[in-house]
Amino acid sequence: MLPRDHSWSWLAVTVGMLLGVRPSACRDLSGGRPNILLLMADDFGIGDIGCYGNKTIRTPNIDRLAEDGVMLTQHVAAASVCTPSRAAFLTGRYPLRSGMVSSNGYRVVQWTGASGGLPTNETTFAKILKDRGYATGLIGKWHLGLNCDSSDDHCHHPISHGFDHFYGMPFSMMGDCIHWELSEKRAGMEYKLHVCFQIMVFAALTLTAGKLTHLTSGSWTPVIWLTIAAILLSVTSCFIGVLIVHADCFLMRNHTITEQPMHFQRTTPLVLKEVSSFVQRNKHRPFLLFVSFLHVHTPLITTEMFRGKSVHGLYGDNTEEMDWMVGQILDTLDMEGLTNSTLVYFTSDHGGSLEAQLRNNQYGGWNGIYKGGKGMGGWEGGIRVPGIFRWPGVLPAGRVIHEPTSLMDVFPTVVQLGGGEVPQDRVIDGRDLLPLLLGTAQQSDHEFLMHYCENFLHAVRWHQRHGGRLWKVHYTTPVFHPEGAGACYGRGVCPCSGDRVAHHDPPLLFDLSRDPSEAHALTPDTEPLFHQVMDTVARAVEEHRRTLSPVPLQLDTQGNTWKPWLQPCCGRFPLCWCDREDDPESLSPVGES
Ligand SMILES: *[C@@H]1O[C@H](CO)[C@@H](O)[C@H](O)[C@H]1NC(C)=O
Ligand SMILES: *[C@@H]1O[C@H](CO)[C@@H](O)[C@H](O)[C@H]1NC(C)=O
Ligand SMILES: *[C@@H]1O[C@H](CO)[C@@H](O)[C@H](O)[C@H]1NC(C)=O
Ligand SMILES: *[C@@H]1O[C@H](CO)[C@@H](O)[C@H](O)[C@H]1NC(C)=O
Repeated sequence: MLPRDHSWSWLAVTVGMLLGVRPSACRDLSGGRPNILLLMADDFGIGDIGCYGNKTIRTPNIDRLAEDGVMLTQHVAAASVCTPSRAAFLTGRYPLRSGMVSSNGYRVVQWTGASGGLPTNETTFAKILKDRGYATGLIGKWHLGLNCDSSDDHCHHPISHGFDHFYGMPFSMMGDCIHWELSEKRAGMEYKLHVCFQIMVFAALTLTAGKLTHLTSGSWTPVIWLTIAAILLSVTSCFIGVLIVHADCFLMRNHTITEQPMHFQRTTPLVLKEVSSFVQRNKHRPFLLFVSFLHVHTPLITTEMFRGKSVHGLYGDNTEEMDWMVGQILDTLDMEGLTNSTLVYFTSDHGGSLEAQLRNNQYGGWNGIYKGGKGMGGWEGGIRVPGIFRWPGVLPAGRVIHEPTSLMDVFPTVVQLGGGEVPQDRVIDGRDLLPLLLGTAQQSDHEFLMHYCENFLHAVRWHQRHGGRLWKVHYTTPVFHPEGAGACYGRGVCPCSGDRVAHHDPPLLFDLSRDPSEAHALTPDTEPLFHQVMDTVARAVEEHRRTLSPVPLQLDTQGNTWKPWLQPCCGRFPLCWCDREDDPESLSPVGES
């Protein structure tokens, strides 16, 4: 099957066939190479979408994509949190291979001013397509690091990873960007500063009392220093929220900061404007555009038009706004006559966050029938996400595929469509999806998929070729809080290691083909194949481990602590304030640093 978008590509195909060239060779003709539009939502649950079974939330535009394209029901993220999942998506490799994981509890890049990030020797699909003549753009969230040694070396910046054009947040949306009660960093830091403050005050008072009662001798100097330190701590704790907003909640265009901090109410229109102008500028050449939505991550920034409109509170409003944005972007393609020459993909970086909850209001996504959510490496709810591909005239409309597929598969798929070659010097874990999407293959190339939580292997999925059963083996699972709650309420996200996880020996076994909710663990008594499955999966894990080589872990403490000299700053550090969105200087490449 071939792209039918340009009439002359047909001519080329016909000529090619007359000359005895196989049709697949003709896919390399630039006229036949599709534009590629990748849409990724942030923290969006698979249960939040009409076409995946939600009856009350309105997602007509995403549903339309599925009706006109191919819908994957078993599409799996390589990690259950942003940074590693996105690294795997862009590189087609388990995040452990690029070192985009930690071993000590840091789950994602913590600061824009941290030195960890996607290593420069990793190859993204954007880099390969750029080399093949594609215009490449990333609009929205990045969250894969920024600088290595100075505040503007931009070693991890999207432009260093194959994107010609970047507009968006180098970091990520978070509750702290608007001083929200659901806080990622601020609340914890305030608490620590407060504890230190109390210790200082207590020590100062004890020394003072000792001196006044003549129980201790010595000078007043320690008391004075303790008092100064306590005052500094208390001032810092008052301003820590503002510091975080300036440090992480800003927008960049290419290498230039345009808004620090961001003005959230205008971000959505700005993102849409940017998408539209990228498409306009590049409509005459093949382009790859990755729209990485800031939706539906907390704090759920939603414009007036959508507030209070859904039946699912602010989360529902934000979801419906994102769906509307998807519609606007698809309309842009339509208006430019690019619909049939563009492969569109929609997904989420991982499952919805169950713990994003305040006073009985749910601010995180809904993972449908699947157990668990964001942050849990093994349970389906954290990793099973929507996956929709549309390419009218090439991919069948309305096909639903239940085979296991991975977000990592996008890498080889778009590389091949763009006429590029998958790197041969490293392990690529993704598999070309095209045969499955076209219907020329009935089975996915994935027999086993590894489910990591940081660098710990928590679970493995085995799609048994004969018999069609789908096994899932859990070696480690989080301990829920409160017990049996299905999540770690009041504790951010569930951890991957330590005393709040349970190790299972023998491992837990589920048959996802019969029990997709992972409700009934099988035992040797209830499942005659129990030991055989365990042995097969253990061998697959052995084999997988032999393909791993140790790399520096980017998200461990060294790469993941705030370094003042790496802090990107629009004005003079530490003031870091600017708004260049209306300043035409910053729009032209002349404004580039
Ligand atoms: C639809 O999505 C909302 C918002 O996440 C959720 O509260 C609701 O339970 C979902 N409904 C179904 C039927 O899945
Ligand atoms: C796009 O493809 C569809 C499906 O093959 C076809 O019905 C439609 O006419 C095409 N549109 C254009 C403008 O070629
Ligand atoms: C990238 O560099 C690191 C060393 O910093 C090395 O361990 C790793 O193997 C390299 N990766 C690739 C894909 O070459
Ligand atoms: C971003 O940089 C690229 C070159 O790296 C340039 O082609 C593009 O025009 C720049 N975009 C803007 C908006 O300045």
